[in-house]
Amino acid sequence: MKKVILVYGSRYGSTAEISERIGEILKKNDLDVDLVNLEETKLKKLPSLDDFDGILIGSGIKISKMTKSVRKFLSKFANTLKQKKNTLGIFISCMMASNPEERPKARDDYIKKVLDDNGIEVAMLEAFGGVLDLTEDSNLGGFSKKIMEKMAEDDPNITPGGKNDGRDWNLITNFAEEFCNLLNE
Ligand SMILES: Cc1cc2nc3c(=O)[nH]c(=O)nc-3n(C[C@H](O)[C@H](O)[C@H](O)COP(=O)(O)O)c2cc1C
Repeated sequence: MKKVILVYGSRYGSTAEISERIGEILKKNDLDVDLVNLEETKLKKLPSLDDFDGILIGSGIKISKMTKSVRKFLSKFANTLKQKKNTLGIFISCMMASNPEERPKARDDYIKKVLDDNGIEVAMLEAFGGVLDLTEDSNLGGFSKKIMEKMAEDDPNITPGGKNDGRDWNLITNFAEEFCNLLNE
């Protein structure tokens, strides 16, 4: 059975849910998956990346940036990742990509630029939509919620007081299945 490690950084839970879904799809396709939340696991405690046939990396975006944990992962393991480029995939969850027309820009601004900075090439990359939870039960901190409520006033696509979920689960499923095909080639 081929082995995949999926590492992710998620501030509010959206990327974590996407990662779990992708992990389930990979398992259904007979891949062995290690799901690692980089917010909870120190980089030096990670298993050796050489033990895996495929690597997936996921991150949420805040003020145009991936999580610090994912940025550190990319710079620390850049050399190994360069050698694994044929079975390497990366994805993000962000509000920009909730609008399909903006998805190419999200890929360029939030993913490609970071990969270029680290000299990393990948086989697959995608920007998925994000979650902006402005309900009373939201897990956004008070300050972040205030900023996002202010932004929502000028954005007709965001519902004030609502749980704005722009994730396209078909797109996520297709990405996961394509990654399986890549590994099973
Ligand atoms: C304070 C804050 C800043 C954000 N900044 C951006 C941004 O610059 N670009 C963007 O597309 N989405 C932005 N978002 C939306 C998040 O990317 C979106 O909520 C995503 O799903 C978060 O993923 P996570 O829950 O895995 O952290 C921001 C959200 C918050 C709360």
